[in-house]
Amino acid sequence: MQNCKSGSYVLLTVIAAVALISAASIAAAQNSDRPWMNPSLSPEERADLVLKQLTLDEKLSLLHGNGMAHAPQWQMPLSKLTNGGAGYVEGVERLGIPPLVISDAGYGVRDSGANGRYSTAMPSSLGAAASWDPDSACEFGTVIGKELRAQGFNMTLGGGVDLAREPRNGRNFEYAGEDPLLAGTLVGNLMKCEQGQHVVGDIKHYVMNDQETGRFFVNAVISKRAMQESDLLAFHIAISIANPGAVMCSYNRINGDFGCENPYTLHDVLEKDWGFKGFVISDWGGTHSTEKASAAGLDQEQPMADFFGPKLKEAVEAGRVPMSEIDDHARRVLYAEFLSGIVDDPPQNGVVDVEKGFEVARRVEAKSIVLLKNSSTILPIVPSKVHSIAIIGGHADVGMISGGGSAQVDPPGGNAIMPPGKGATIWQKPVWFPTSPLKALQAKLPSTKIDFDPGTDAKSAASLAKSADLAIVFVYQWLSEDMDVPSLSLPDNQDALIEQVASANPHTIVVLETGTAVTMPWIDKVSGVVEAWYAGSSGDKGLADVLAGDVNPSGKLPLTFTSSEADLPHPNRPEIPSTSQAQAGDVADNGAPSSNASAHTGYAVHYDEGGAVGYKWFEEQHKKPLFAFGFGLSYTTYAYSGLNVDSGAKTARFTVKNTGKRPGTEIAEVYARLPKGTDEPYRRLVGWTRVALAPGESKAVSVAIDDRVLKTFDEDKNAWTMTPGDYQVLVGGSSDNTPLTGILVVR
Ligand code: BGC
Repeated sequence: MQNCKSGSYVLLTVIAAVALISAASIAAAQNSDRPWMNPSLSPEERADLVLKQLTLDEKLSLLHGNGMAHAPQWQMPLSKLTNGGAGYVEGVERLGIPPLVISDAGYGVRDSGANGRYSTAMPSSLGAAASWDPDSACEFGTVIGKELRAQGFNMTLGGGVDLAREPRNGRNFEYAGEDPLLAGTLVGNLMKCEQGQHVVGDIKHYVMNDQETGRFFVNAVISKRAMQESDLLAFHIAISIANPGAVMCSYNRINGDFGCENPYTLHDVLEKDWGFKGFVISDWGGTHSTEKASAAGLDQEQPMADFFGPKLKEAVEAGRVPMSEIDDHARRVLYAEFLSGIVDDPPQNGVVDVEKGFEVARRVEAKSIVLLKNSSTILPIVPSKVHSIAIIGGHADVGMISGGGSAQVDPPGGNAIMPPGKGATIWQKPVWFPTSPLKALQAKLPSTKIDFDPGTDAKSAASLAKSADLAIVFVYQWLSEDMDVPSLSLPDNQDALIEQVASANPHTIVVLETGTAVTMPWIDKVSGVVEAWYAGSSGDKGLADVLAGDVNPSGKLPLTFTSSEADLPHPNRPEIPSTSQAQAGDVADNGAPSSNASAHTGYAVHYDEGGAVGYKWFEEQHKKPLFAFGFGLSYTTYAYSGLNVDSGAKTARFTVKNTGKRPGTEIAEVYARLPKGTDEPYRRLVGWTRVALAPGESKAVSVAIDDRVLKTFDEDKNAWTMTPGDYQVLVGGSSDNTPLTGILVVR
């Protein structure tokens, strides 16, 4: 028996060895037939090798989508292969080139509910930007990259980096605020790490997609200099950090031409000046032509093949589109596939690491919360002093709100404010995650009496508030793709609710769950304000960590909060004038562009404020915001001293001291004012660092000043210029509080 066993063992070993040897030799033989499969070659070399093998039809198949799973108006024969996601692009199976299986993934993988899967919702990108932490952004991207792969996707449509130039923009929660260096750095790190998981990365919506009103036809009018120094700079920084496989061109027009057929933004800037080697993918339904778009630099139409299918083939055969252009488009798609690793390491379906997602989402949220007001140290909650808490409004008993549109992540169990089984995600219907701050606080503060009032009747809410030591009012502002908010006021009479609660109990704290800035007419009447953003899958716990003081808040605002919309560069909400040719019917019910959208040319938004976005505008106009860009309090205090600017190395060195009694992390911000003659009367953020400090501890830190944010763009020369002269360097804890000043001399 023994012999028999060991005999079979030897036999099995021999068979296994032979199998391994023959698999290896088959692979070697295949690879000698397929030299592009050699991972030691560069993505460029590999793409070139494949390109030589492709027929015209194979090349063209890389240049368009095949419909979108859940969009009835976008169905094609291969739509079922989209894996329930946003798009599918055929591969070239005979050569080992995989198809692209594409999903939206703004703050988590989209459509998981519709597909019977689970995804983690990270905090909104705007929220995460309040951490000013590239490492958090990297963790955010890593979680999403892993979950995309576990669900069978190999390409993401995340990476929004349009600037919050229009604070009422319904997609601001998908972006990273108003400053090009902050937004570009954070989204760049997020996408670098997401693509690092071997999915094709994407940065979007290129460019000037700064409002949703009339998004399919609005013409964004702006000078080249202003665009270069603001929105384009954010994209350039993000793209240079992430090196993404793809950039998504936007729906809107830019100075006349649509984003997906704009020779200036696509060809001149992205491809020529920045040397972007990946492919340009159209926003869904954002392609408007064949020859013009192809010549401008659009590489792939999505999600259909209306312009880059048979029409493109016909144009090539008739000689109206040169073969070199087709080769360039196809090479770029292939390059992105090799660059991202999806050829060498295709996704393996698996179980999403739910626990890891929760853990990262909680940590990122806790770092992103911004403490805006804390009179008489009302926070953190001290259980020995606070015996009863009234929690009011915002559905805080069951959940926290999330951002809508194509970024929407489906919560487990459905919309938490709907009856069980009735909470399907519906386009343009607000969705609450089942993350109850009430329950999270009860778990943190077991000896405190905590009661809830829904806030639907302000009188009843005020009477509960009166009976408690502390009142916390949860308020929300819902944002979604395909709409802008009518104003920065909280909707649904929540301002009045706060006023009434605060009059009943001066110890009132407001927790904001918002996707952009809001106005706060009640600010002087409340004791505390905490901005929690859209808080994601562990938002309740991250928030409870901060309210109870287990985490000292360190977030700083990534966009200005104005006290009045009258102070904005565009005081009136974005609105399509009735005189414009654009009318109802331009937008299909599900937010997709209807076929007549491209006919409307009348509606333009003139960005006359130019590069003066957000805090720059407020400084230029000598206006005082409610809360400045870069502002955020802590449970401790910090002092700044000893600025030393090294003009040669372009660094600012200074010391930050924790002058309070709790450990904390200070985001130390460095700004510069350009020399006279540059015509820029405002400071620019040029660097920052996060400094962790024990009570009483001091640290000397050094912040490198990024050259790109010291330069101005010369339209005549189409070049960046560093103007010689004295640059005033300003250092502190907020854009409007910079106690240290120095001079950086540029010769
Ligand atoms: C959005 C994109 C999204 C695409 C696919 C478009 O409507 O603007 O951000 O990636 O749809 O869902």
